[in-house]
Amino acid sequence: MIGVFDSGLGGLSVLAALVDALPQADFAYYADTAHVPYGNKSETQIQCRVLAIGDYLASHGCDLLVVACNTATAAAVQALRAAHPGIPVVGVEPGIKPAAQDSKSGRIAVLATEATARSPRLQQLIREHAGRVEVFVEPCPGWATHVEMLQLDDPALAADVRARVEPLLARGVDRIVLGCTHYSFLAPLLSEVVDGRAELVDVAAAVARQTQRLAGRLAHGSGRLQLHASAHPERLRAALPRLHLGRIAARAG
Ligand code: DGL
Repeated sequence: MIGVFDSGLGGLSVLAALVDALPQADFAYYADTAHVPYGNKSETQIQCRVLAIGDYLASHGCDLLVVACNTATAAAVQALRAAHPGIPVVGVEPGIKPAAQDSKSGRIAVLATEATARSPRLQQLIREHAGRVEVFVEPCPGWATHVEMLQLDDPALAADVRARVEPLLARGVDRIVLGCTHYSFLAPLLSEVVDGRAELVDVAAAVARQTQRLAGRLAHGSGRLQLHASAHPERLRAALPRLHLGRIAARAG
């Protein structure tokens, strides 16, 4: 079984890509809803949660783990790999590389949680892959919480999205990296604001391809999905149709 986890609903955007790439695989999805959001937590707090969830999923029979969260990957993927040396771990990191490669203006932006925005790992990614472009990192406090509350049409959120994105566009960015898995669910709102002036970069499909390469026999299961949450598991299931993921709900039986 493939274990996939996030602080909450955001990782479902990655799970959707995983299910498309590995339709016969069995998945367990864990939402850490008792501790969401991770974006305002310290590195130590996030590591502590990631290690606990890794143990939980491993003890529930997961042989491959996907950290469907940029914040958790930046803070704790190394610690998770060290704790489970026998289990392959796929992390999710902001798509700096494809954005930098494809940018024509030489300016890109990354939207991320506060914790990811200040992480040394993000700075390392920028140094490694964006040497020739200018990168604007925009922390977006509160966005993941709006997604958690399923307040996708909240006018206050729309105003904040515009207030953060317009200045980036005014600086000439032509690629905007969704550096938090929750933000995939804000893509319609972001596209409306961007209005063709830049492309949004989401790595969910690339993460799914990487997982497919590592899956081996795990690709051949019975296409089932287990849903786990550290608080209010019923809300996780109820959120699926609201996020247009009814096809995933069907797998959960
Ligand atoms: N979905 C997460 C990410 O990709 C974290 C959001 C949060 O809990 O703050 O960064």
